[in-house]
Amino acid sequence: METMKRFTTREFAQRKSNGLPIAMLTAYDAMTARLGEAAGADALLVGDSLGMVVQGHDTPIPVTLDHVIYHAEIVARVTQRSLIIGDLPFMTYTVSPEQALTNAARLMQATGVGAVKMEGGETIAPTIRRLVDVGIPVMGHVGLQPQSVHQVGGMRVQGRELDAAQRLLRDAQAVEAAGAFAIVVESVPAPLAAMITAQLHIPTIGIGAGAGCDGQVQIFHDLLALFDAFVPRHTRQYADIGVTIREALGAYVRDVQARAFPTEQNSFTMKTEIVDALNAEIAAQDTPHQAANGTDAHADRQHN
Ligand code: KIV
Repeated sequence: METMKRFTTREFAQRKSNGLPIAMLTAYDAMTARLGEAAGADALLVGDSLGMVVQGHDTPIPVTLDHVIYHAEIVARVTQRSLIIGDLPFMTYTVSPEQALTNAARLMQATGVGAVKMEGGETIAPTIRRLVDVGIPVMGHVGLQPQSVHQVGGMRVQGRELDAAQRLLRDAQAVEAAGAFAIVVESVPAPLAAMITAQLHIPTIGIGAGAGCDGQVQIFHDLLALFDAFVPRHTRQYADIGVTIREALGAYVRDVQARAFPTEQNSFTMKTEIVDALNAEIAAQDTPHQAANGTDAHADRQHN
């Protein structure tokens, strides 16, 4: 079997130097991973957004490291070319750099992902440094940090005011200085994201951060209208697969109810002699039963 070379963290840097955009998607299982890679995604993020789009929660907070490991192992196993990045979930890296190191190592060893992602700016920088120093590639994440949704009061745009914008720029610079190979910039005004992109040497990967970033990441389900709780402004629905699926499944249910599915085409045959032999055997079993209680067991089955 031909083994294809995966996109590397080094190639992230080369893309920025060459001015070539990086296209990233989230993936959570064999289907989303295979489709994302076949579409040509450079990297697939097993994001803790799985809490919302796969598990049906309102936030990513209930997602555990074991959940991410379960999904990331599948995504890494069925792909060959895309770089797979595993998200470190809520409270799995913020207690101490050593906690982060232990959990990031477990995520990489158990799944085969090539990098981990963590949210945070200046305060998380020493943790990023600790991981990078032992050879764990880290993608940062600033701007809207969904794991802090309760602290910021909702999934809102970050960095609109001067002091918040200055803090965000400092956060991004601290993440770069700590050794991250790239940084997600989420829900940030486009001019600020473009300034951050111009200031940093590592690529910025935007989501709701305008066209000035070095790359973009989107949630698989958003692009295909598979997540119907709400449509985030930062996304574009490239197809309404949700409607197509609902229509197709509805047609299946109606066909079953109308006995229009399955037909002979969807069924398997067997030799007539075997059918006859089985019928004879059943008939022979029915006879003593009928004699014993005076009822026709075969007829009873058909009526009940
Ligand atoms: O969890 C996730 O999918 C993410 C992306 C939105 C960047 O963090």
